[in-house]
Amino acid sequence: MSIATDVTEDYIPPHPAPFTARPSLPELVRRMRRSLLEIWHERHFEEPFFATRLLARRFFICNSPETVHAAFVANNAAFERKTPEMRHALEPLVGDGLIISDGLVWRERRRVVAPVTHVSRIHALAPVMTEVVAERGEAWAARPADAPVDMLTEMGEMAAEVICRSVFGRRLGSDSARQVVRAFARYQRGSGVGGLLALLGLPGLLPRLRAWRLRGEVRRIHEVLDRLIAEALGAPAGETSLIRAMAEAELRDSGQPMSPAAFRNEAATLFLAGHETTAGTMAWAWFLLSQSPVAAARLRAEAVSVLGGRAARFEDLPALPFTRAVVEETLRLYPPIPLLAREAQQDVELAGQPVPKGGIVMVVPWLLHRHRALWPKPDHFLPERFLPDAPPRPRHAFIPFSLGPRVCTGAHFAMAEAVICLATLAQRFAPRLAPGTQVFPVCRLTLRPGERLPMLLDRVA
Ligand code: HEM
Repeated sequence: MSIATDVTEDYIPPHPAPFTARPSLPELVRRMRRSLLEIWHERHFEEPFFATRLLARRFFICNSPETVHAAFVANNAAFERKTPEMRHALEPLVGDGLIISDGLVWRERRRVVAPVTHVSRIHALAPVMTEVVAERGEAWAARPADAPVDMLTEMGEMAAEVICRSVFGRRLGSDSARQVVRAFARYQRGSGVGGLLALLGLPGLLPRLRAWRLRGEVRRIHEVLDRLIAEALGAPAGETSLIRAMAEAELRDSGQPMSPAAFRNEAATLFLAGHETTAGTMAWAWFLLSQSPVAAARLRAEAVSVLGGRAARFEDLPALPFTRAVVEETLRLYPPIPLLAREAQQDVELAGQPVPKGGIVMVVPWLLHRHRALWPKPDHFLPERFLPDAPPRPRHAFIPFSLGPRVCTGAHFAMAEAVICLATLAQRFAPRLAPGTQVFPVCRLTLRPGERLPMLLDRVA
């Protein structure tokens, strides 16, 4: 595969160098605690499948389009269950919500949750994105250009506003967004939800102890969600919300209303799954554009020619292919969920190797997206590779939203939000990294550019 001719430039964004010699166990654990991205050997970016043992646990890593397909598509039934640690860490907050359920509950909920953010509904959901992004543009314009903002916080607040207004309806969502965000942030800080050690099952007791300590916090979150859900369901007809769409879908399909607990669990799931991931993607994209003036100029030119200064709307999306390519290249280089782990439900064979029941099978977008055999210039920032006329890439080589029956239900929602955000705001602002800032990817809950991303909001001349 070769790269399209109209390339931007030769920019290699920051990433940890893979190690070349096998590290000692203490060294490996030290790296794991620092960041999941730092535990890989050079050969892990070249192999199609490998098995490894860590403490008492065996891990099987699918690392080619074929093995990824075999695990998450062809053998999904055997691998649909999340790891016990992930389930224990999230269960207090999301109960049997889609993100951690499996079997019958997962199938029934998926039928209700997936359609509400389906591609066919994005036209109805995009106005909230346009509205929130335009508000952020006004807020940025009112700030002095020489005062840095934390782009992670900016994008976090924006994504939270979008998801709150979408889930609960415009009016309720905007009044309560801050309350919901603060409550979730407190829970996540306290629980280390999705923390690496929990994800890998080391040690298994910790998530339960933390969950017990956080039960008061959980009760408060549930009270807020219950109140918002009741109000959203009682809102006047015509006020659209994902809550109402789920209620209608369930009633239509089963003739039964969804239980209050199910509503609450799915609302919490949508917030948890749809907010930090999208925020991280947009923050990373601003960083990459700030380091790649040619790509930034091309995106701005596209936005200005299509939008002429106004905020982007749903109808504009097909006319913004370069902006979309920037978002996709950002997701390739910095997949917000860089590791997907499942517990085998039965003995299975993968890539000719036996995987025992209980074995942990992983698909690691971080490795696959930089695989030497799949991507030319794998560590470069080259949005052109995602343009419609670029050479085709191997199927299942790009999986930021996972794949198979458990694929992210919010992928179209997230793509629309990120494109609307970049195209709208790039017309007025050219965010520049604050001098002296070192950016390096770390992975704890999601893959982030460190704890903060200070940027100056330069105005476009
Ligand atoms: C750039 C943004 C996003 C990324 C990269 C992303 C990625 C993912 C990934 C990788 C999974 C699978 C996780 C696993 O198998 O362990 C997932 C699941 C999920 N995502 Fe997203 N997501 C994003 C945004 C969203 C949004 C905006 C929503 C909702 C509006 C959403 C809702 C969900 C749900 C409900 C699931 C669970 C699906 C299931 O298990 O059946 N996501 N997402």
